[in-house]
Amino acid sequence: MCGFALTGVVAATAPDSSEHAQRMGRTVPFEECLPGTEARLTGSGGQARPPEGGELTPQEAARYHQRLREELVSLRGQELQPPQTVPVVVHVISAEDGRGDVSDERVQKQVDVLNAAYSGGRADAAARSTTSAAPAAEAEAADTGFRFELSEVTRTVNDDWFTNFDEHRDTARAQLRQGGAGTLNIYTADLGPGLLGYSTFPQDYEENPEQDGVVVAHDTLPGGDREQFNLGHTSTHEVGHWLGLFHTFQNGCTDPGDYVDDTPYEREAASGCPDGRDTCPEKEGEDPVTNFMNYSDDACMTHFTAGQGKRMVEHWAAFRGGASQARAD
Ligand code: ARG
Ligand code: ZN
Ligand code: CA
Repeated sequence: MCGFALTGVVAATAPDSSEHAQRMGRTVPFEECLPGTEARLTGSGGQARPPEGGELTPQEAARYHQRLREELVSLRGQELQPPQTVPVVVHVISAEDGRGDVSDERVQKQVDVLNAAYSGGRADAAARSTTSAAPAAEAEAADTGFRFELSEVTRTVNDDWFTNFDEHRDTARAQLRQGGAGTLNIYTADLGPGLLGYSTFPQDYEENPEQDGVVVAHDTLPGGDREQFNLGHTSTHEVGHWLGLFHTFQNGCTDPGDYVDDTPYEREAASGCPDGRDTCPEKEGEDPVTNFMNYSDDACMTHFTAGQGKRMVEHWAAFRGGASQARAD
């Protein structure tokens, strides 16, 4: 049983363009997961869209990683910049009848969820201190060092953008985006029944700065109507990609997996919240079902690992902090 099937596709517009690819995850509840059922996304003119896919091929992941390594070589000797407070601009796109008009309060709650997730849950430590021992899964939750601060909410009422965001995505992002490489832009709209969100990678910024950012379905923000996915962890997950993380199931059971040492290998995405899942029995550890970079239900997601935190700091230093940010801001 497969639960959620990925229907995103990775299509290259040019042989060497994959390192600048954006990725897009589509989860569609399917009875079964048939290989090769991906739908090719086409633009309004029917032409192939820039490469976007729910999963990166091993080659694409390797190229992104290679870009990271190259940048880290040039930063050699320097201490990686400590993570800083990331300014967040949220662009709420809604319909004339009010659909998708996410309140300022829910936007702030989303930023609170990000801060809790990226600090290892310590942001709500006060609330938990009255309870007894924390569940085991929370013990491994790393403080990644990243913190987020809401700097602005923009509101755009446009039926067409709201309902056909995919078609108007590039225009919308180019028009609305603010700040440089170190500013997190989050767009909310109706993404259709199967899609929760998607994001660009840090490596994409240089080539496509105006498209940089995270897109999430409006009903995934805290308090939304999206069953199983309304605690705000779609944004947590997508921001993980925005900071350079792959899925925990990247490359399946095959080396180098997700390029993170302390996340166990996993053959394919988890859905729901399976207990004791172990899809790579020949590799150490059970599946990282509760990791934010999986596809489990929001309520099931509890943590990033220390290794993921380190990898995000590396991407920050290489592509979003320091020199690249100073150039762009
Ligand atoms: N990229 C994934 C998607 O579009 C996001 C998965 C988020 N998972 C979650 N529990 N919120 O489906
Ligand atoms: Zn993802
Ligand atoms: Ca791993």
